[in-house]
Amino acid sequence: MKILRAKPWDMNENLVTDEKIYNDRRLLMKIGAIAGAGAMMPLSLEAAKNYPGKALNFKKNSGFSGLEASSYDQITTYNNFYEFSLSKDGPSKLAHTLEPEPWTIEITGEVEKPMVIDVAKILAEYPLEERTYRFRCVEGWSMVVPWIGFELSYLLKKVGLTSKSKFVQFQTKYDPKMFPEQDKEGFFGNIPFPYVEGLRIDEAMNPLTLLSLGLYGKTLPKQNGAPIRLVVPWKYGFKSIKSITKIHVSSGMTRSTWNEVNPKEYGFYSNVNPNVSHPRWSQAKERPLGAFFKKKTEIFNGYGEEVASLYKGMDLQVNF
Ligand code: MTE
Repeated sequence: MKILRAKPWDMNENLVTDEKIYNDRRLLMKIGAIAGAGAMMPLSLEAAKNYPGKALNFKKNSGFSGLEASSYDQITTYNNFYEFSLSKDGPSKLAHTLEPEPWTIEITGEVEKPMVIDVAKILAEYPLEERTYRFRCVEGWSMVVPWIGFELSYLLKKVGLTSKSKFVQFQTKYDPKMFPEQDKEGFFGNIPFPYVEGLRIDEAMNPLTLLSLGLYGKTLPKQNGAPIRLVVPWKYGFKSIKSITKIHVSSGMTRSTWNEVNPKEYGFYSNVNPNVSHPRWSQAKERPLGAFFKKKTEIFNGYGEEVASLYKGMDLQVNF
């Protein structure tokens, strides 16, 4: 008997689960959430003390503190991290093999001063701040995360961009001992590794674009991309690549994993846009983690004021 294994990019939870079962399951989650209402409350410092990870030194950015964050449990147990698992609850159970210390990031390409930076140095010296951002996955779920990080532009200014710099590529560390699915490529219907992602240089320099090293006051949990990941809040979540070890600035368009896997479904830009449907489902609505009802998705995930000008004159149906 031939066993057909669905690829992760063929799936969407809303589509693969019978609608009634899906809604019942969400209802149970909702009831569970009410029963354990503490988990839904805004973070108290007391609660944060019990979360795993090392406490970070950071400033709260009040310009990005108005949203109510998803709970720590929601953010850290419902993950996409294909280097560990294709399931949502897999990464939190399996990511213990990731060793985030020591860790370096190599920056190469169209920069004045190529360099290798130790993440320990970043944690000690860079201007870390907390920003609570909306996060929208292309699959149709969303969450709100109190990230701790710094603007990517801070690092790019440090290395100095040359006049030829047009795109930036990010790469996840390749080490199958730490990321066991990496050397099973193809075998389990997984995506090609190492995971890579890219941004146009003006997107990379936009003040909203963060390199994150933590959430809820502490270092990043392994399943969320320890020790350092990208966060681009106006784009679908797959652009926010985890466990980065290389940044390459180039004059030409960069590769990006999902775009290579299926360019008709995952564009290079992948800006959140309720008016451009995924070929197999609408993007008009999203289901916040733990919520019963869907809510309307906002263009650029609600960050249009900050980023719409980057795409002025572009046809967003074509450049999706
Ligand atoms: N980065 C790597 N290296 N591997 C991945 O599988 N998944 C992406 C993105 N970054 C992924 C990744 C996808 S599809 C999403 S939606 C987000 O990470 C999920 O981030 P979270 O698990 O912190 O919610």
